[in-house]
This record gives sequence, structure tokens and C-alpha cells, in this order.
Amino acid sequence: MIQFLLNDTPIEVQECSPSLTILDWLRTKKGKVGTKEGCATGDCGACTILVGEEKTNSNGNPVWHYQTMNSCLLLLGNAHAKHIVTVEAVTTGLYPTLDDLHPVQRALVECHGSQCGFCTPGIIMSMLALYINHPSYPGKKAAIHALGGNLCRCTGYSPILLAVEKAYSYERKNEPYSAMAAQFKASLNTQHDDDVPYLKDGPRKFYSPQNAKQLVELKALYPHAHLVAGGTDFAIELSQNMLLPDVIISLSQAKELCTLSDNNGELHIGAALPYSQFVDAFYNYYPESKELFERLGSNQVRNSGTLGGSIGNASPIGDPAPLLIALNATLDLSSAAGTRTINVADYFVDYKKTVIKSDEVISKITVPKRPDSLKLACHKISKRFEDDISTVCLVLAIEQTQGLMSNARCAMGGMAAIPKRATHIEQKLNAQPLQVSTFIDAASAINDDFAPMSDVRSSAHYRTTVSKNLLQRIGIEFCGAQPSSNKNNNNIAITRISHASL
Ligand SMILES: Cc1cc2nc3c(=O)[nH]c(=O)nc-3n(C[C@H](O)[C@H](O)[C@H](O)COP(=O)(O)OP(=O)(O)OC[C@H]3O[C@@H](n4cnc5c(N)ncnc54)[C@H](O)[C@@H]3O)c2cc1C
Ligand code: FES
Ligand code: FES
Repeated sequence: MIQFLLNDTPIEVQECSPSLTILDWLRTKKGKVGTKEGCATGDCGACTILVGEEKTNSNGNPVWHYQTMNSCLLLLGNAHAKHIVTVEAVTTGLYPTLDDLHPVQRALVECHGSQCGFCTPGIIMSMLALYINHPSYPGKKAAIHALGGNLCRCTGYSPILLAVEKAYSYERKNEPYSAMAAQFKASLNTQHDDDVPYLKDGPRKFYSPQNAKQLVELKALYPHAHLVAGGTDFAIELSQNMLLPDVIISLSQAKELCTLSDNNGELHIGAALPYSQFVDAFYNYYPESKELFERLGSNQVRNSGTLGGSIGNASPIGDPAPLLIALNATLDLSSAAGTRTINVADYFVDYKKTVIKSDEVISKITVPKRPDSLKLACHKISKRFEDDISTVCLVLAIEQTQGLMSNARCAMGGMAAIPKRATHIEQKLNAQPLQVSTFIDAASAINDDFAPMSDVRSSAHYRTTVSKNLLQRIGIEFCGAQPSSNKNNNNIAITRISHASL
């Protein structure tokens, strides 16, 4: 069975569909309909809940940390040992007055931040997470970031953003959740270490192995089982493509896959560690990667999604793969027979085809130490700044010795069936002087590397043109010059965009 805390109530579930999301469970099994279903694809944020997990603080003491997640993407089995907080727990009184409301609710009322109200529970939960994690108002940029995964069709965002600030003007309300969660966790510790929490529905099963050994043993036993980590891609397969797997194995609690270590600048990132738990370490060495990670989905998506899930999904438009390929990162593929290490670039074979074997899982991603002379540029082109998938993603890493460029690694997403290196462009950069004209010349090799397709995101022509322009821009940036205008010779704007409200 799986056990977790729902608001103030300990829950045990054993008989249940392995593919049920928390959203559906809340609404159909528990009658908790405050959490709304808008899109069921992680885009609107109406289903936002708080998920509390026990962490260790810098003094080595356990603390509960609460983050937003989309309950439409979170499988019920992944709730094991966690604290699920829904909008019903924010204010518990049946007929609350304004004074009874939580400050974030009261502020939303007083700032007229709700009209039809459909998005409101999700917005309240995102405001609540910000409020809990920031004792004082962290500023408009942080407020926009916190609400980046919540869409509102009617109110407009100004009153909502005002409400985020106003919530801090009332008497501060301490969060009551950690104390409940600590009590619940103490009761959980009575379980045996060897137990694998599971759900079952007839022959269909969901397993949540607690360590790497249990994980690879289960994968050996069920080689055709579907793996799930954060579920931000997998849950969409369930809801949109009606996938009905017999066996699902979750990686999200296999403890070795949820670790991060820094070995003198070389980062070892567990494949099931969510983005929000490792990006700061990444930014320490590669601050340029903010362009990709800060814009990967929304807060809710980054609190669940993982590198293992992105690489495992093998999408040609996933943002991490071009970055990892350009940085020459490696993957550990583990099975009951042992672990092999391969370059990320060698993982992808063809559209959604990879070299992983049926008994293997991606267990770790290793990012090499940054060479002293490395220059790195990361660019994501998408229609919207927040919460949008790339049309083109370009990452270029080069080193520079005595005025000449070397070890160029240019990787692109959205240009082929797989994330792929641009080897012709790299050849035109290597052993050449670092000057803008070298990049303009290298950009002319784009058609030797890629023949992109046209799709809903853009035409093939746009993809090729914007890639050339990005290379030219990178040349200008690397040489320390300023772009002369927002438009280049091809008249396509390539200025770095930021959120319209900032
Ligand atoms: C609203 C929204 C916005 C998004 N925006 C972006 C974006 O801007 N950029 C971007 O790159 N992505 C984006 N994504 C996609 C997604 O969030 C990422 O790909 C994420 O990293 C997937 O990780 P996960 O842990 O959720 O994967 P899951 O959904 O759990 O798994 C994805 C696939 O990988 C397999 N898998 C998972 N872990 C492993 C493993 N360790 N070994 C082998 N196979 C594994 C699973 O079987 C599954 O097939 C977005 C998704 C949503 C819903
Ligand atoms: S229902 Fe829209 S994000 Fe979950
Ligand atoms: S108040 Fe109607 S969608 Fe936000």
C-alpha cells in the first residue's frame, strides 16, 4: 500500500488504478473538488496543490518543504510518504469572514483578483507556496515567477500580482502543515525497509521502490513496465493518448536517484531529482543555463520534472539534451547486471528511439567540470516566454586558446528527429579566431547539419533562419560587441525576451 497525509488526514491506499492522478483521486474518490481540472496537461495551473516532502536542513535536521505541483500530472502512487495540501486546508471554517481567511485569500478578495473563480484555487496555492517560503515580500519578479504556471482568462494579472504583495501587509500567519507532517512521518517509520509501496487494480500494478537495488530488480522482473519520475510527460501520455500500462515503476523515491553531489566542480545529478532541487548547483558553474532551466515549463513543472525524465522521453524539443550534449555530459544506465556510462549525445538514435535496454534505467547524469576558458551560450526560441516548449534550442560551448577556438560543441533541439550536434558548424569554428565573421561563416553550414521540418510551432525556413541568426548573435556576444539592432540581415528579431510585465 501507499501512505501519505492529505491535509490533516493520514491516508492508506492499496486498491486503486496505478495510473490515477492525484487530481482525479481528490475529485472522484474524496469529494475534494476545490482543486480544479482546466487542461489536464500541466498548462493552466487550476489543479495546483502543495506537496510537502521531508528534507534535511544545513544543520542536519529534518524539515518539511512545501512546493507547488500540478495534481493533473502527479500519479497517486508518487504521493507516498508526502504531505498533500489542497485548497480546502487553507482556511477550514465553513463560513469564514474576511478576518478568518488566510492572508493570501484575503488579499485576493480585497484586490479583486478573482472573477469566474475557476483559476482561483490554483492561484491561491501558488501564492501560498511563495508566502510560506518567503517570510517577506520577495518582489514582483519572484511573484511573476511563482505565478508563471497559472493562467487566468478573465481577471487579468495586475490585481493578482497586487494581491501577492498585499498578503504580506496583514499579520503574518505561520504555516501549520510541517507539524502535522512530522507527526505523520513518525508513524510511517514503523514500516519495514524492504517494503516496496505499491498500488494494484487487479493485475495492474504501481511500484514505488525506495532504493536503486529495488528499482533495478523490479525492472528486471518487469522489463516492459513503464517508468515514471515526475510524470510531467508520462501523465500526458495517460490522459491524452489513453495509455493503460499494466505495470508502472516509479523512480521518484529511489533514494540514490534523488541525490546531488559536487565532486570538485563535476556535478553528479540523480536522474529522479527534480529540476528545482539541482538548478542552483548547475548555475554555480554554468549560469548561462538559466536561460533554459528558468524557462522550462513552470514552477509546478520544475518542482516535479527531472533530467532522467527529459532524456528518457527522448523528445527532439526537450531543452536539457542540447545543453548536456554541448557540455559533454554522460549518463549512467543501470540494471541488475551493473551500470554502463555513455555520452548523452550517443543516447538518441532516431525519433523517440534510444539505446536504453528494457531492463535499464537512467540513474545519473554527470556534468563535467567547467574548463577555465569555456564560453557557453544557451538560447531558447519559443512563442511565449513562460511555460512554452522550444521551437529551436541552441547551445554552443567553445574553448579558447591563444586567440583560437577549440573543442566547439554545438547542439540543437527542434531541428531534427533527435537532439543533435551540428558537426559542420563545429568544424567551421574550431581552430579559427574568435571574431564575429567566423560565426557568420559557420552559420552558413546550418543546411549541412540540419533539414528541419515545418510544424505547428514554425516553418522549416524560420527554424533555419533563426538558427543562423542565433549563431551570429552568439559571435557578437562572445566578442563582447553589442548587437547593432534588434533585427539582423534576415529581419528576424533575436533579442533576448523577458516577461512582458517586468
Ligand atoms: C506544461 C509543461 C511544460 C513543459 N515545458 C517544457 C519546456 O519548456 N522544456 C522542456 O524541455 N520540457 C518541458 N516539458 C516537458 C517535461 O516537463 C520534461 O521533459 C521533464 O523533464 C520530464 O521529466 P519527468 O520526470 O516529469 O518525466 P516523466 O514524465 O516521469 O517521464 C518521461 C518519460 O521518460 C521515461 N523516464 C523517466 N525517468 C526515466 C529514467 N530515469 N530512465 C529511463 N526512462 C525514464 C518515462 O518512462 C517516460 O517515458 C513541459 C511539460 C509540461 C507538462
Ligand atoms: S488541470 Fe491544467 S495544469 Fe492541471
Ligand atoms: S477568474 Fe476566471 S479564469 Fe481566472
